[in-house]
Amino acid sequence: MSDLVLVQRRDDVAEVVLNRPDKRNAFNWSMMQALDAAITQAGNMSGVRAVILRGEGRGFSAGIDVMAFDEIVDAFGADWRRNMFPVTAAFQNIVTKFERCPHPVICLMHTYALGLALELALACDFRIVSEGTIIGLPETRLGIVPDVGGTTRLTRLVGPGRAKEFIITGKNIPLDAAERWGLVNYIVPKGGLMDKANELVAEIRLAAPLAVTYAKHVINGVSEVERGLQMEAWAQAQLMGSEDFEQGAQSMITKQTPQWKGK
Ligand code: COA
Repeated sequence: MSDLVLVQRRDDVAEVVLNRPDKRNAFNWSMMQALDAAITQAGNMSGVRAVILRGEGRGFSAGIDVMAFDEIVDAFGADWRRNMFPVTAAFQNIVTKFERCPHPVICLMHTYALGLALELALACDFRIVSEGTIIGLPETRLGIVPDVGGTTRLTRLVGPGRAKEFIITGKNIPLDAAERWGLVNYIVPKGGLMDKANELVAEIRLAAPLAVTYAKHVINGVSEVERGLQMEAWAQAQLMGSEDFEQGAQSMITKQTPQWKGK
């Protein structure tokens, strides 16, 4: 397996570790495939009571790797922007595997969890953040929309009024509000993520494993995610070929203010 995402087992806990710290755990396609293999492996482990997802290095993750489109060309063909559906579906399917994992998945976020990173966290069952972590879905500031479940799952969690404010503007979500709204379960002091996760796992152990799996699936099934994912894919198919997205992605890397053209 690729070392871009590691799977480590300790007793009845499987840890999935994002491991591309030099690029702030930004997700290129190789890393997405490694993530797919990792959650599949963790999900298939018997006797596991929880999966912990975390990021190695300075922060949890800076989201999609906006510079790694050569890999997308290799995987989906040179015309991928004109035929976005298979690309979006592939990313969505991998992230949805965290939601469908039979074990509860606890996401630990430190320093930053932006874009695809927060979308991934939203597909987990529990989210614990350390104080000062920057969380948000800044996609509209790049000229696109959160299309890997973020638009759908943030709306499901916090309601359309709050989701619109943060998705339309792309601004960061204040942690205290996120905790009040149930978007994050706990805010802990820096360095305290694993202790809190272990505490939560100890509580999960008190419940019967089969009942935990079924409870998770029932709660996920209460709201229909599938239609939202299709709508996200439709929106992104309109935006990915736009001049604004070219501009937005370049501006993110060069840390310039983009000049939007509306086309
Ligand atoms: N895509 C591609 N590369 C990225 C990246 C991303 N999303 N985020 C960071 N990187 C790269 C940088 O280009 C840099 O590469 P280099 O060392 O080859 O120059 C390296 O990771 C370190 O980034 P840097 O910005 O110097 O790190 P930092 O610790 O000062 O800041 C962040 C970290 C996450 C705050 C900052 O990188 C950032 O804002 N990234 C963009 C986040 C974002 O908007 N993501 C959502 C996209 S929808």
